[in-house]
Amino acid sequence: MQLLVLFGSQTGNAQDVAERVAREAKRRHFAPCVMAMDAYSVAALPAEGLVIFVASTTGQGELPDNMKHFWRFLLRKSLPPDSLASTTYAVFGLGDSGYAHYNVAAKKLDRRLAALGARAALERGLGDDQAPAGYEAVLDAWLPRLWVALRTAAPLPPGLSDPAEGDAATELVPRYTVTFLPRSKGRDLGPAAAPSATAPVSSGRAAAELAEAAEAARAFAAVEAAATGVPRFPGDDLPACSHGPWRPFVAPLLANERLTAAGHEQDTRLLSLGLRGSGLAYASGDLAAILPAQACILLRARVQAPAEVSALLARLGLSEDDVVRVEVNGCAPGGAAAEVRLGALVAGVLDVAGGSPRRFFFEVLARFASEPREAERLAYLFSPGGRDDLARYNQREGRTLLEVLRDFPGAAPPLAWLLQVGPRLQPRRFSIASSLSAHPDQAHVLAAVVEYRTPHKRLKRGVATGWLGRLLPHPTLPQVPVWVERGVLRLPPHQVPLVLVGPGTGVAPFRAFLQERAAAAAAGEAVAPSLLFFGCRREAADFYFRDEWPALAAAGALAPDGLVTAFSRDQPAKVYVGQRIREHGARVWALLQQGAVVFVSGAAQRMPQDVAAAFQAVATEHGGLAPADAARYVRQLALLQRYFVEAWS
Ligand code: 2AM
Repeated sequence: MQLLVLFGSQTGNAQDVAERVAREAKRRHFAPCVMAMDAYSVAALPAEGLVIFVASTTGQGELPDNMKHFWRFLLRKSLPPDSLASTTYAVFGLGDSGYAHYNVAAKKLDRRLAALGARAALERGLGDDQAPAGYEAVLDAWLPRLWVALRTAAPLPPGLSDPAEGDAATELVPRYTVTFLPRSKGRDLGPAAAPSATAPVSSGRAAAELAEAAEAARAFAAVEAAATGVPRFPGDDLPACSHGPWRPFVAPLLANERLTAAGHEQDTRLLSLGLRGSGLAYASGDLAAILPAQACILLRARVQAPAEVSALLARLGLSEDDVVRVEVNGCAPGGAAAEVRLGALVAGVLDVAGGSPRRFFFEVLARFASEPREAERLAYLFSPGGRDDLARYNQREGRTLLEVLRDFPGAAPPLAWLLQVGPRLQPRRFSIASSLSAHPDQAHVLAAVVEYRTPHKRLKRGVATGWLGRLLPHPTLPQVPVWVERGVLRLPPHQVPLVLVGPGTGVAPFRAFLQERAAAAAAGEAVAPSLLFFGCRREAADFYFRDEWPALAAAGALAPDGLVTAFSRDQPAKVYVGQRIREHGARVWALLQQGAVVFVSGAAQRMPQDVAAAFQAVATEHGGLAPADAARYVRQLALLQRYFVEAWS
């Protein structure tokens, strides 16, 4: 029996789940087909008998990019209420209960499918990132129920039987086919001269090589588009000037300034990207998205240490100069193929020495382990009983692809499998820290170079921020591939007062807001008074933009004494922005009474909850609300679009 598995995935987890559903389905004698929702011809949906949907929800209740088109179709008013009357379905969602819009993509989808007459095989499953074992805890319990439920809709054909419980023998079907091309025949995609300050990339040979590398990147993008439905192919339906994930603007880096004091333990950079001629525009609150992979492929930038890329290839017995053709298998439309030099492919696609492999990686690796002890250890690690040990070995210690492969020297996974299940270089999104009114043709990014020690004291460095922090500025040299995405935070009309809460690099979008308002005030517009709560470790070390706030305040963007600081480590007891919000409760409450909008931005963990608790305390103390009413009041602010949180981990 045919079984369609459709996913909407932003970071790849939902795709991971969809592929697992398909593997298990195959063992149960279904004929599964896995696709991104947007890669599927949605008009054919009413003809499908069995469909499993896997949908993730991003932090602020956004649908994944490769589900948006599908969702718009489902919402059409012209669809009759019984359109899906012959379809049986199940929905699994991936979300984070730390956010207000928990799993909304899955919930909305479930409701809409039911409204269109489809029959739910079982209650939807909702995976939660906040759970200690992540979404898999719910998934592991939901899948066995799914198979039982589907047997009612699709009884076993005579003579066949379902696999025994716990029998993990799953047939692995790779998503890619990788063919090695004779080097002389393969297009020469050899190393382009790395752009340098002395040899602008626009000149001569380097430009030709850049164009060729870009061609390879586009070819690979087409393969990815066919596989996942995410990226639009350049030129498809974008106006000529617009830039997006697969057609970034390669911006010059005008400045790269360290904002933290010399000797301070954190290295935070203010990066100024030049946008002149790009046609890129942004509003305050928008995000700059940067995908280091693109710098690798388009510019041959050394985002990842070349030694690590070579080490990975050497570990697999491959050479950087091998040229391969990559094709997508399965039911995805397109038949796209890319020819790419291995050095560029690995450096530009796989996260070699940064992120940790996911759980399925260990299952795949076990299949290619020739040494019994290693195979046994790997099998244990991906088994339900080994979950905690895997989390300890892998995630908590931040073991990288290269390290895991070194720990299991007898395992030889084929390249196609590494591309499928190895960690990928992911785009990083930064709130833009400038306003076009203050810095025409520029976008500023405030980036803390990620560096931390694991529980076993191993030093880890962020791939994207490490690379950005090392770049040397140059007024014209294109260095940073970037595009702009709409953010969660939007500056309300200037007459609306703001309460801004931005500890650490969370303050970035508020610099943009206040620059915008200072410009408006200078142009004679009425600007409401606002408060900014900023927190950092030490006044002398990481007080970002300390010289700029007074001018913004003087220009009218902040209320008099509108900047309130919390220096957490300048005294024996920690002081955080939450405490300051309580201390300044009377002013905060007065602004809220005047219709102020609250924006909270910064690192996830505990900060957003602590800040929400502080606002509740203010509502109790200064608004006279009972604690339960104060909690309701803060929730109500969010529903009324007067309380926004942009948090990242
Ligand atoms: P700490 O690192 O000294 O604990 C920016 O990261 C600032 O936010 C730092 O001063 C940090 O303090 C502080 N911070 C940490 N946890 C916080 C929380 N729950 N609420 C507000 N600020 C917090």
